[in-house]
Amino acid sequence: MSEASWVFAIEEDQLPNNSMQAVFPKGLPILLIKREGKICAVSNKCAHMACTLAGGYLEGYTIKCPCHDWRFDIRTGEFLTAKEIRIPTYELRVLEKKVFVKV
Ligand code: FES
Repeated sequence: MSEASWVFAIEEDQLPNNSMQAVFPKGLPILLIKREGKICAVSNKCAHMACTLAGGYLEGYTIKCPCHDWRFDIRTGEFLTAKEIRIPTYELRVLEKKVFVKV
């Protein structure tokens, strides 16, 4: 398996506060969410039946899947009803206003 590497995802100014944006670094479906100035990177596929979370609803640090209302913490990826289920989260960093994700 190849090592994880930092891959450019988006210009930071394309991600306003309290917004989300689907990106595909290395072809992976990742959802970037900026909340109160902090950016979180989670899988864009729901842990239930793989619906696209980018169509979901953001409430605080929770994203609600548009298909059957499963809710996940965007900081940890945890499914709020059963924390042993989670969606992948990704490390990220911002360099010179460019957002990179470790994939
Ligand atoms: S696919 Fe997300 S709740 Fe069912």
